[in-house]
Amino acid sequence: MTNDTNSSLTRRRYIKAGGAAGATIAIAGCLGGGDGDSDGEETTTASDDGGTTQSDDGGQELEIVHWWTAGGEKDALNALIEGFEQEYPDVDVTNNPAPGGAGSALDTEIQSRIINENPPSTFQIWPGKALNTYLESDVLVDISDSVWDDGMRDAYLDGVKEMSQSEDGEFVAVPLNIHRLNNLFYNVSVLEDAGVDPANLDSPSALLDAMETIDAETDAAPMAHQTQAVWSTLQMWEDVLIGHAGVDTYQDVIAGNVADNETAVRESLQLVADFREYFNEDAGSVAWDEANAKVIQGNAAFIHQGDWAAGQYGAADDFEYDSDWGNLAFPGTDGVYHVVADSFVMPTSNPSPEATEKWLSYCGSVDGQERFNPVKGSIPPRTDVPDDEFGPFLTAQREDFDNSDAQPPTIAHGTGVTPQVKSNVEGAFSAFVGNWNVDAVYNELTNAF
Ligand code: GAL
Repeated sequence: MTNDTNSSLTRRRYIKAGGAAGATIAIAGCLGGGDGDSDGEETTTASDDGGTTQSDDGGQELEIVHWWTAGGEKDALNALIEGFEQEYPDVDVTNNPAPGGAGSALDTEIQSRIINENPPSTFQIWPGKALNTYLESDVLVDISDSVWDDGMRDAYLDGVKEMSQSEDGEFVAVPLNIHRLNNLFYNVSVLEDAGVDPANLDSPSALLDAMETIDAETDAAPMAHQTQAVWSTLQMWEDVLIGHAGVDTYQDVIAGNVADNETAVRESLQLVADFREYFNEDAGSVAWDEANAKVIQGNAAFIHQGDWAAGQYGAADDFEYDSDWGNLAFPGTDGVYHVVADSFVMPTSNPSPEATEKWLSYCGSVDGQERFNPVKGSIPPRTDVPDDEFGPFLTAQREDFDNSDAQPPTIAHGTGVTPQVKSNVEGAFSAFVGNWNVDAVYNELTNAF
């Protein structure tokens, strides 16, 4: 792709993102746009010869942009960085978060910095279709030779390797985890108080009945949830659809065939609209980890979340797996491992190519994945990471993954649809989380794909 196409496509997308587009476009094309970093540390700029930016003490600087500030996620990233620094003491890490669950703030920041040719060394992104915008704009470095050595290629799961490549088969990303989305976590004593047995929850409708019982029998909110950002409700609908109508229907819908599955889509949306009667009253003003804290405190019974929620339980005091919290596959989705993965990439005009390659290689290593995943609540995409550090919950997730019949991708976390489709679907859901109007959101969904 030529530079011209590159800049116009990137600019057009940035305009869609709104905000300070005018100002940014005016300086597009200038090297090192002077984006100061938030820690007040030395600003990294692309050096004229494309070489490595030096820190004051002669080492290399590595700026990492990510959204892991919530729950146990911060601890997981810190564990990864600690291992990296032990292996590569010559690299100085600048940890520069763009907070916001499911990356709600990161994309705009990264696109603006790419337009200004002032990208960070590396940034967090979902492998799979979320890479499309950056691949089409030709702003990701091909790391097939520099990072993806034979050891990594042999050790990674095939499906994850595919998600890390461009259409031409060039590796551009290094995944470091696999999350499961279709979990239902619960507070053991709240369910006991209500007389609800989680073993009987075999469908989204059965879950709705259980929530009615919890509402009648306890003071807890039946379902902890957040509607401040749309992604949690969107992912909930994805799993209600799988649980209610099956994974093949879900796959057909995300391939764009909404009207062909009208009954299933409408019924699943109606179930989500019914669920909302049982959300915590402040669902509109809390973040996902604040909603999850209600499960920890015993103020809510269930939460539907990716297993990053279990990372938060791991970081909590006196909240133990099995005795205090439990989980099951979201009702009706047994045998499905609804996959979300995270990766890091190397943008072009890179301020620290050597340090970035070291970081990416470390993310792809056994040591990096063994430190990060047990704290994050995810399982490793390498097949040779020992079980020892993973504890009973994640060991069971690893077994479920190995035994799963289907591993569909997701809309809400960007692996299964292009960024454009994701944005259209989010547009439909942004009204739904206010008016819960099934007809309206159904109509919008028929045009979203
Ligand atoms: C996902 C991401 C997870 C977790 C979650 C909540 O998109 O893949 O690692 O961070 O968002 O923010």
